[in-house]
Amino acid sequence: MTAQTVRRPARLRGTVRVPGHKSISHRSALLGAIATGTSRARRFLTSDDCLATLDCLRALGVEWRLIDEPSGKTLEVDGTGLHGLQEPADVLDCRNSGTTMRIIAGILAGQPFTSVLTGDASLRARPVDRVIEPLRQMGAQLLARQNDRLPPLTVRGPSPEGLHGIRYRQPVASAQVKSAVLLAGLFADGETVVEEPGPSRDHTERMLTAMGADVRREGPAVSVRPVDALASIDIEVPGDISSAAYWLVAAAAHPDAEVILPNVGVNPTRTGLLDALAMMGASLDVGEERMAGEEPVADLAVRSSHLRGIEAGGDLVLRMMDELPVLAVAAAFAEGETVVRDAQELRVKESDRIASLTRELSKLGVAIEERDDGFAVRGPSAEGLRGARVSGGGDHRLTMALAVAGLLAEGDTTIEDGGSVAVSYPGFWTDIAAVAEG
Ligand code: S3P
Repeated sequence: MTAQTVRRPARLRGTVRVPGHKSISHRSALLGAIATGTSRARRFLTSDDCLATLDCLRALGVEWRLIDEPSGKTLEVDGTGLHGLQEPADVLDCRNSGTTMRIIAGILAGQPFTSVLTGDASLRARPVDRVIEPLRQMGAQLLARQNDRLPPLTVRGPSPEGLHGIRYRQPVASAQVKSAVLLAGLFADGETVVEEPGPSRDHTERMLTAMGADVRREGPAVSVRPVDALASIDIEVPGDISSAAYWLVAAAAHPDAEVILPNVGVNPTRTGLLDALAMMGASLDVGEERMAGEEPVADLAVRSSHLRGIEAGGDLVLRMMDELPVLAVAAAFAEGETVVRDAQELRVKESDRIASLTRELSKLGVAIEERDDGFAVRGPSAEGLRGARVSGGGDHRLTMALAVAGLLAEGDTTIEDGGSVAVSYPGFWTDIAAVAEG
């Protein structure tokens, strides 16, 4: 897709049904593939990332279908059981999706065959040593480029002695790595324990529990025991809070706005942005929570707000890591300074988000300063933001954060690589048009 141009509408109004949750969609496909029987996931997110997962699964011999239903697409996956996957005849292409590559690596660590995982230029520049290291400790055989640091990643399954459970203390909190180790643990001898330095998202643990696995949490440690089989699941995928984030910020920072976001996943490992916006003084309502399977969901409503700057670090930042690009946009409209610390991981996402965010938001007149582990933004300048030509550099979350900045800026903002939104939010440009007209 070519460049997209946005400008500030007089009002922002409407109800946005954000697309299905990306992390949960990936897991419904991956765990469904190794379950026994057919699993169903309603409102499955058919974005590029999740389709990459589905294509990899097909190459591993898994049958699945996407069915059109009034609520959206339903994924049906015919589980092969824990030992039914087949050696792929070709390299598996994870495209832009770190979740696909790292979580599949955990499953493949338990399979008695060789697979090679690659991806696009962005993914081939992102570290895989973090997943190789614990899986090797468990007895799996893996290799990667540049001294086992970068993809392509080859997984040869267990050594002749098989996999054994380990206690792994993660140097960096990562849900993808935690998930890979826990999934390999299903194939191991004895218990596998992952100790996290902070509360990374726990969607895998919740889904594994629903499928009958013995998953336990004790403080920062989560453990799993081997199983003979996983039961199939039938779930409704909640709306993705990462996609809701763009509307939360756009509406809070626009002078005449009210946006309603029904049915958004509010798993507490993911609600850092809601907490940060509340600290900033946003007019934000979180409706009554209900459960969609193992995951809490709620309706959100947000309207024009007078925002103030905050300092954010530690667990709060971990709980909104993917939402930090758009938080920086909110900070540009907040009175005073906003400082984000402990966000080094942003440097190894789909782009170096600290560098790219600082570079592109500066073009719109945001007073943003790059820090090693985050950024600092000084609140609204007298002139506000001014439209400019910017680029997300193929990074979907940066592209959408820039579009939100464009909705709040004076004059036209042209975002060069509009197509990257398909990675997580294919209907983003349609929704922006609807809310701007609303
Ligand atoms: C994800 C985990 C996060 C996140 C990514 C999706 C997942 O990465 O940034 O977009 O679905 O497990 P970490 O593995 O660094 O936590």
